[in-house]
Amino acid sequence: VASKRSYHEKVIDHYENPRNVGSFNKKDLDVGTGLVGAPACGDVMKLQIKVDDNGVIQQAVFKTFGCGSAIASSSYATELIRGMTLDQAAQVTNKTISKELALPPVKLHCSMLAEDAITSAIKDYRSKRSKAPSMQPPVV
Ligand code: FES
Ligand code: FES
Repeated sequence: VASKRSYHEKVIDHYENPRNVGSFNKKDLDVGTGLVGAPACGDVMKLQIKVDDNGVIQQAVFKTFGCGSAIASSSYATELIRGMTLDQAAQVTNKTISKELALPPVKLHCSMLAEDAITSAIKDYRSKRSKAPSMQPPVV
């Protein structure tokens, strides 16, 4: 189908023009940081989220030391989860990512890295919030 973009076009686009490369201060209380590695190949991905008071992800950034598919997966993931609630973002699986980028089976673990990074960023954010007394919701 002519309108369907190939694996190469989508992956290469995100690889050559990665969206949202960068980092936030991981000490900020509205930031969650996920740092994960792929044992299969040694690649490392850092993904961070900035969350507003309603639990909505305002922005997501990443830095990835890895292959083109891992960079493309993290780039796409940061676009995808922006505007989502934490619960919605927690539902994002590597299937969504690998399907969008049409990753071949041998590259599926690269999108897994992005799923793990999102999960771990959410976990980090939640644990920080629960430890910060001033940030806790008022008791009703
Ligand atoms: Fe890690 Fe792809 S094997 S770069
Ligand atoms: Fe290992 Fe892509 S993350 S080959």
